Amino acid sequence: MCQSPLHPFLLNLPKCEHHIHLEGALTPELVFSLAKKNNVTLPDLPHYKSSTSLTARYEQFDNLDDFLNIHYANMSVLITGNDFYELAWSYILAAHADGVHHAEVFFDPQSHTSRGIPVESVTRGYKRALDRAESELGVTFHLIMCFLRHLPVASAETTFDSANELIRDGLIHGVGLDSSEVGFPPELFTGVFQKAREVGLRRTAHGGEEGDVSYIKGALDSLHAERIDHGIRLVEDEELLRQVAIKGILLTICPLSNVYLHTAKSIASLPLRKFLDFGVQFSLNSDDPAYFGGGILNNYCAVQEAFNFSIDEWKTIAISGVRGSWISDERKRVLIGKIDDTVSSFRSLA
Ligand code: HPA
Ligand code: ZN
Repeated sequence: MCQSPLHPFLLNLPKCEHHIHLEGALTPELVFSLAKKNNVTLPDLPHYKSSTSLTARYEQFDNLDDFLNIHYANMSVLITGNDFYELAWSYILAAHADGVHHAEVFFDPQSHTSRGIPVESVTRGYKRALDRAESELGVTFHLIMCFLRHLPVASAETTFDSANELIRDGLIHGVGLDSSEVGFPPELFTGVFQKAREVGLRRTAHGGEEGDVSYIKGALDSLHAERIDHGIRLVEDEELLRQVAIKGILLTICPLSNVYLHTAKSIASLPLRKFLDFGVQFSLNSDDPAYFGGGILNNYCAVQEAFNFSIDEWKTIAISGVRGSWISDERKRVLIGKIDDTVSSFRSLA
């Protein structure tokens, strides 16, 4: 919770989340309980002594790869379809409490298929939780299947082919690109993104997190990405920044993640003011809520403490999130109506 007088407004403001890795919602407590249930031996390292020591380790990431090594090691506890269901459900309850009305969530099938877990168990486990949330909570979701860019392109191709039936059945809405960025340029994945495009999948890619602005340009030009995940290094190229603004490409920014992974010195140093001034649309997201200081509301609060945005600026951010979502015009109208109602009722109180 932040100290801002706008905290109740920020809590109630209807939110869309576009940058959350479901595996990044795996809390230390769930790591240890699933390890016990599934008889998985965790690495013989000091931070795996207890959930407390694991949590403490998360305050000391050196960089993206240091985080990813622990993130991938933790995932070894996820085995059954029900484990994936339970993980997604825990995210959903937290996101719902934070005011999320629509979320487009990432998952990393290769982290599981490489351990012999079928892509169907992973995807159907997650989808069962998302369907339950839609019917019981009225929150809507899409699943985005990400390719791990540190693995060979052939592995991404195999993953895409193996998900053929899931795509055909409508379980997967889009594709993304994540994991270690520098040294793995988006152009490598042009072919598999093209195949995804041909079957009607939406496209997004991490870019400009640790990598320079060329990774953003490459994702837009070669992958036909419709959104950029992180994208904070867009400020390095003002011409591209103007094009991104004109085209209405959404940046899915993750403020706390950027600080935890040292891709930004502080929240205040993020170029959010510049993006607003230039009309670059962005949403604010949790990335990996179990690792980076909590969920989407904590990110809104951290931004408010650093930038002291007005109600109108928050309204712009919330509406950008709706516009950049891959949902029907009707669903957009409903969500924008809810944002308008929240803004009006908060103004009448103020
Ligand atoms: N960047 C790249 N890959 C990831 C991240 C991230 O911030 N989180 C989980 N996988
Ligand atoms: Zn991410």
